[in-house]
Amino acid sequence: MSQNLQSVRGMNDILPAEAEFWELFEEAVSDRLKSYGYKPIRMPIVEPTPLFKRAIGEVTDIVEKEMYSFEDSLNGEQLTLRPEGTAGCVRAVIQHGLANQVAQRLYYMGPMFRHERPQKGRYRQFHQIGVEAFGFAGPDVDAEQILMIARLWGDLGLDDIRLQLNSLGQPEERARHRADLIAYLEGFQEILDEEAKRRLYTNPLRILDTKNPALQDMCAGAPKLIDYLGEASLAHFNGVQQILKDAGIPFEINPRLVRGLDYYNLTVFEWVTDKLGAQGTVCAGGRYDGLVQQLGGKATPACGFAMGVERLIALIRDSGGEPAPKGTDVYVVHQGETAARLAFRVAEGLRDNGIDVILHCGGGSFKSQMKKADASGALFAVVIGDDEAAAGEVQLKALRDEGVAQQRLKAENLAEVIIDQLLDTQEEEA
Ligand code: HAM
Repeated sequence: MSQNLQSVRGMNDILPAEAEFWELFEEAVSDRLKSYGYKPIRMPIVEPTPLFKRAIGEVTDIVEKEMYSFEDSLNGEQLTLRPEGTAGCVRAVIQHGLANQVAQRLYYMGPMFRHERPQKGRYRQFHQIGVEAFGFAGPDVDAEQILMIARLWGDLGLDDIRLQLNSLGQPEERARHRADLIAYLEGFQEILDEEAKRRLYTNPLRILDTKNPALQDMCAGAPKLIDYLGEASLAHFNGVQQILKDAGIPFEINPRLVRGLDYYNLTVFEWVTDKLGAQGTVCAGGRYDGLVQQLGGKATPACGFAMGVERLIALIRDSGGEPAPKGTDVYVVHQGETAARLAFRVAEGLRDNGIDVILHCGGGSFKSQMKKADASGALFAVVIGDDEAAAGEVQLKALRDEGVAQQRLKAENLAEVIIDQLLDTQEEEA
């Protein structure tokens, strides 16, 4: 295949064997979110560029260098493929006045786009399942979201995901801390690396997140945001922790957890695993009480998070929790014109009875059709030749159980016999 007809680097096909598992995963997650009262919302993949600049922040990595932005060639509008879901969700909530009367619990899923350097667990098109709650000011909803995530890990059979928690306080508290932090960091000009120098006056908190070993001592001695939090912020943080303790959810407070998006205040959290190498954060979020107003809506407290679907699926696979794909129930093979007509009737009749059927299409010998029946994973083959068709009969052959003899039966009795045998198999398995 010529080079330019391959998928874009960092944007992957999800082939059928994998996509089937994705569907199961998405269903398990949405069932759990619904059980806590969350309702689905779907937003466009493309949004006006200024939305992301204002929501995520001009000096974040995402906005500075990772957005797929382009000009609409018809009207010159600046557009961007969404790098995350919160901004679009907030825009939709404001635009439709969703949270004006009652608080809202919402979730969405779908592709996000960031122009990052692709590596294991980091893609340019990746998928998130995101959750946002609007209109709740207290620590209860933050904690409830974390409890919901912990329960979800249980549903998915995942352990070994650690919860890290921090509080970013309120903007005024952060501003005082920031001024002191900049003054402190200015004292280390000679050891600051390029990135730290670039961030010194734009995003100094992110410097504390550096992986550079030469800066670790400096970071350890830096003024700590927690010491700048006022009474209300501390009460909120303690409130979240108390509910987690009551529920027996272990957590670690990580004062360096600052997140890469600017809209957060108070609670922030990340769920991290050591099993995926460098890209170990599988779920992350926090509170963003100022964003709705900042984007033009009524002041509305809000809190949310998003999971990385690729990372979670990799984790489930690593821990051996991937279910075997389910084969179909019946594969119908047929040869001859009369047989083909009966085959269609039989297949539709079985489907009327809730049985999954693949009808062989494309002709071929009985032998080659039987090979395909076997490869499909079907439990039964229904075999119809013109001879059977003339008598309104079919052959039923169990493909996975050699102890069951092939039988010839009336086409109208087929569904009942198959259902009986499927029930027998289920009982044996139980
Ligand atoms: P985020 O931390 O940027 O937060 O992304 C959330 C999760 O998406 C990450 O923890 C990771 O699992 C996954 N993720 C991010 N980038 C990539 C990538 N390039 N490849 C694969 N997976 C990736 C947000 O996006 C916020 N909107 C979360 C939020 C919702 N906060 C409040 N509400």
